[in-house]
Amino acid sequence: MNKGYKPIQPISYSHKIHAGALKIDCKYCHFGSEKSKKAGIPPLNVCMNCHKTVKTDSPQIQKLAEYYKKGEPVPWVRVHNLPDYVSFDHSRHVNKGVACQTCHGQIQDMTEVKQENTLAMGWCVNCHRDYTKNPPPDLKDRHIFATTDCTGCHQ
Ligand code: HEC
Ligand code: HEC
Ligand code: HEC
Ligand code: HEC
Ligand code: HEC
Repeated sequence: MNKGYKPIQPISYSHKIHAGALKIDCKYCHFGSEKSKKAGIPPLNVCMNCHKTVKTDSPQIQKLAEYYKKGEPVPWVRVHNLPDYVSFDHSRHVNKGVACQTCHGQIQDMTEVKQENTLAMGWCVNCHRDYTKNPPPDLKDRHIFATTDCTGCHQ
């Protein structure tokens, strides 16, 4: 999809409430981001850790509890989506210290998630070149060498 893409979601889940006001760590919900290619969308039981008791009078939470009771996942609409011929791995980035916000913007201020960057080839390659030549100060000791070989991203 394109920069600025902001689909309507089936439940009005807000990052501004959860990651902003409540300061829940991104990795509490997106627990794949340090270990695997996919950051992943959290399964419903993560939400229900709180919402079995929090705000149970809200129609949105009742809708959430319905899915949970039926054993169905929430049909979240995907926001970011690379073509299949590109390989992207979250853990390779997150473990080198690249912050979520560098690529996704200030998610903790968003009521609805919006795609902040183009995700185009030039965006990837420019960062790989820049960070290898002249990494930002907080990543200086990480010995960054990010590939610009075609086969690094297209296998
Ligand atoms: C309480 C759980 C929770 C926390 C904490 C959380 N998220 Fe999410 N995140 C979700 C859910 C649920 C979705 C799917 C619905 C949506 O897109 O709004 C999502 C969607 C996203 C997406 C879009 C995924 C796609 O479809 O492309 C990004 C990017 C994201 N989160 C990043 C973050 C970042 C960065 C943080 C920390 C600042 C964070 N999230 C904290 C639950 C969480
Ligand atoms: C750590 C506890 C916690 C977790 C985990 C959590 N929430 Fe929440 N959620 C809250 C709190 C607290 C509020 C705000 C209640 C208020 O308005 O004072 C809230 C508010 C909401 C609301 C707004 C309800 C309304 O009508 O005002 C929705 C929708 C929601 N959460 C969905 C989710 C979803 C979906 C997940 C899982 C991806 C999730 N929450 C995970 C604690 C949590
Ligand atoms: C170097 C850029 C970059 C960083 C850093 C990054 N992401 Fe992503 N993220 C992406 C791209 C690109 C996609 C689309 C991947 C695809 O379509 O295969 C994506 C997709 C996602 C998705 C959708 C589901 C998935 O796993 O594909 C979520 C959720 C997400 N990111 C959360 C996070 C969180 C949380 C962090 C920090 C812990 C983070 N991202 C760090 C670039 C990044
Ligand atoms: C904000 C900077 C940034 C952006 C944007 C970015 N990357 Fe990276 N990428 C890095 C860094 C830093 C590494 C880690 C390099 C290392 O391990 O030293 C990395 C590593 C990788 C690797 C592992 C191979 C290697 O060189 O270690 C792949 C594959 C990759 N990135 C693909 C992508 C793709 C595809 C995109 C765009 C969708 C993208 N990256 C966007 C900074 C970025
Ligand atoms: C750092 C990651 C990265 C590297 C290195 C990279 N690409 Fe890409 N490439 C991408 C991404 C991401 C896309 C998808 C762009 C989009 O969807 O807009 C892409 C798309 C393409 C396409 C699809 C056509 C198009 O432009 O829409 C071709 C062909 C291509 N790349 C060839 C190459 C060649 C040849 C090289 C080596 C000179 C290369 N790529 C190096 C990430 C990379």
